[in-house]
Amino acid sequence: MRNVILIGFMGSGKTTVGFRLSYRLRRTVIDTDKEIEREEQRSISDIFATDGEAYFRDRETLCLQKLLGSTGSQIISVGGGLPLRQENRELLHELGQVFYLSASAETIYERVKYDTTRPLLQGDDPMGRIRTLLAERDSCYREAADVVIDVNGKGFEQILCEIERAVV
Ligand code: S3P
Repeated sequence: MRNVILIGFMGSGKTTVGFRLSYRLRRTVIDTDKEIEREEQRSISDIFATDGEAYFRDRETLCLQKLLGSTGSQIISVGGGLPLRQENRELLHELGQVFYLSASAETIYERVKYDTTRPLLQGDDPMGRIRTLLAERDSCYREAADVVIDVNGKGFEQILCEIERAVV
């Protein structure tokens, strides 16, 4: 069995979908952000503040390389910026079947507007930031994906059914 990998912008639902999918498919779930936080014994915000984004990005690549050595039947949800590196997109492809949870800037804003844990969205104009980053990233997500799931206006049940139907 291949891994099922969830990619997408912050707030697109990767973590929640990953947990629910793990119940339905009876597979373990791994979240790259949580793996990095566990290994580093500190939060993503602390890592960004102390060592900077470039350090965090290197940790993401290392995390994927480690996952290549583990069993291939898991659900893996990855941080929103991870697919931006070409090397990471190749690693994702090797690791399993990649699902892009595609959400509009409006959907994302509604989900993250009170969030303080995502360093890239703190600031005066989170909506503007979301629009800019999403425009920059969408093509990378699509390039990395085997399957694109439009999550706008859909409940988790529907999203899970669409993923389950597409899992090979
Ligand atoms: C990031 C997304 C976050 C986390 C970090 C950077 C990004 O993960 O990795 O804050 O660059 O989009 P989520 O997508 O799980 O929020």
